[in-house]
Amino acid sequence: MNQTQDSLTSRREFIKNTGKIAAASALAGVAIPHVHAAENNTIQVALVGCGNRGAGAAGDALSVKNGPIKLVAMADVFEHRLKGSYEALKRSKDFGKQVEVPEDRKFIGFDAYKKAMDCLKPGDVAIFATPLAFRWVHFTYAIKKGLNVFMEKPLTADGPTSRRMLKLAEEAAAKNLKAGVGLMSRHSRALQELYQRIQDGEIGDLILLRGYRMHGPVGSAFSEKWPGKPTELLWQIQRFHSFLWASGGCFSDFYVHGRCINGCNDIYSSYAQGSKGMAIVSHHSDCGLPSSTYKGQNPERSNLLWVSKVNPDQQNPYQNEWNDLIDAIRNDKPYNEVKRGVEASLVTSLGRMAAHTGQEITFEEMLNSDHEYAPGVDKLSMGSSAPLRADSNGKYPVPEPGIKKKREF
Ligand SMILES: NC(=O)c1ccc[n+]([C@@H]2O[C@H](COP(=O)([O-])OP(=O)(O)OC[C@H]3O[C@@H](n4cnc5c(N)ncnc54)[C@H](O)[C@@H]3O)[C@@H](O)[C@H]2O)c1
Repeated sequence: MNQTQDSLTSRREFIKNTGKIAAASALAGVAIPHVHAAENNTIQVALVGCGNRGAGAAGDALSVKNGPIKLVAMADVFEHRLKGSYEALKRSKDFGKQVEVPEDRKFIGFDAYKKAMDCLKPGDVAIFATPLAFRWVHFTYAIKKGLNVFMEKPLTADGPTSRRMLKLAEEAAAKNLKAGVGLMSRHSRALQELYQRIQDGEIGDLILLRGYRMHGPVGSAFSEKWPGKPTELLWQIQRFHSFLWASGGCFSDFYVHGRCINGCNDIYSSYAQGSKGMAIVSHHSDCGLPSSTYKGQNPERSNLLWVSKVNPDQQNPYQNEWNDLIDAIRNDKPYNEVKRGVEASLVTSLGRMAAHTGQEITFEEMLNSDHEYAPGVDKLSMGSSAPLRADSNGKYPVPEPGIKKKREF
């Protein structure tokens, strides 16, 4: 056992056993010496990618009511993004006091992730909420440091990085590191119960699943020419929904559900049709409550079989995913969502590639494809060229279905 594994094991035992001592002492009515709540039982968190979702995930982490937890380090490539998220988190009435990130633990740059993770001890948690291009780079370092991780979805946009992430997932599991993936719908209590009801045959054999997310343009999926500032690389990262290398593009974030066109009918909900009945999977948005099942194919009140009832403290799947991850860390339960996160990302990517090339693409073809969209992304620095360069007219290569058949660009 090397030193990192050794200290990880003893730290895990401490976090776990401290929980047990606390529970046993509470039952026996024995006061716990204050020192027990001190340093070693505290889970420290580092945030890498301090944008909207990163700040949201950090807030959810700090809201877990299962032992002491605090945010100790932050990393980004833009100072203003880090500052904005730090100030928003620090202002929070609910968890502001758990934000302990002094100036010397705020890091800017492409190597900032290393410095932030260096502030943690084995068994702590790193959050990855940059665009997906950097997931494998950050995950590699976290595994080396013996850290548990929470990483936002999607995880990959191409075959080579998907294969790399699957291998890293195995390495993390072999080291008993916990890895949560931000597919929050998987932690919706209503969807979990609905899944079981469908498995148990409540709506018969499953015939069709329909998921819609249709609205106008969102995020940074529509970009004009690079304006010359900041650098082309940083501009592409800022507008990551426009670049397949950075994010898988709008397909991976939005088209996976539907379309982004102004002036069309908006729908954002999902359904399951079975041989005996149907289910409203999500009433609105990704996993908006309630879920319900009906006999027959008409979701009328008289056909209602079941409607989900979820305790108020379990209604937020973003909070549930953190409660579940921290529970797995504190109680040492197996927890690794990376494989299913990669598989979900691959399914999205094969749909995207099929549309972009005009060809039929199988899961295996996508997984085994050798086109890596951002090779060398682990070596980027502030002065690096962008992985994709504009031509002399400021235009980037775009997919040409039926013409470029083997590559998306
Ligand atoms: N699960 C969900 O519901 C959900 C919702 C929104 C976003 N997301 C995902 O979360 C990720 C972030 O999305 P967002 O909306 O927060 O974007 P954002 O632009 O607000 O935040 C991304 C942050 O990462 C920083 N960053 C980029 N590259 C970096 C690097 N190499 N090192 C350090 N920092 C870097 C950016 O400067 C920015 O501050 C995306 O992958 C997105 O798809 C998931």
